[in-house]
Amino acid sequence: VRYEVEASPGVCSGAIESNWSGFSGTGFCNGTNSTGGHAQFTVTAAEAGTATLGVRFANGTTTARPAGLVVNGTAVRTLSFEGTGAWSTWATETTTVPVNAGSNTIRLNPATANGLPNVDFLDVDGGGTTPVPPG
Ligand code: GCU
Ligand code: CA
Repeated sequence: VRYEVEASPGVCSGAIESNWSGFSGTGFCNGTNSTGGHAQFTVTAAEAGTATLGVRFANGTTTARPAGLVVNGTAVRTLSFEGTGAWSTWATETTTVPVNAGSNTIRLNPATANGLPNVDFLDVDGGGTTPVPPG
């Protein structure tokens, strides 16, 4: 299931913009370039378990923009968000997280004052979110 950051209840502490091509949906989150410039998604899992996350991002600088990954208020790990070569070049960083049944918040907190990369969407698989094939 794909969660676009510009779609409610997505949160972008910054601005939803569309000036760099290649994004999905109607825009991306240009977070404020500070440690407070976070992005947050609210995702639904049918069951508790492990979900695979894919964060699509662009970092047009040559310096990584690491961010803390916080699930339901608990810090899980740091994602690296390396430079992608251009703001219009998008990449996906994947990881796994524990999720609860029902609603879960997935937050990206910048680890440095450079802030987040531009963030396009969060893909979530597993944790009961994958439809069971019929039959
Ligand atoms: C540029 C770019 C933004 C980006 C910003 C940054 O201003 O146009 O899309 O968010 O750099 O360094 O974070
Ligand atoms: Ca920014």
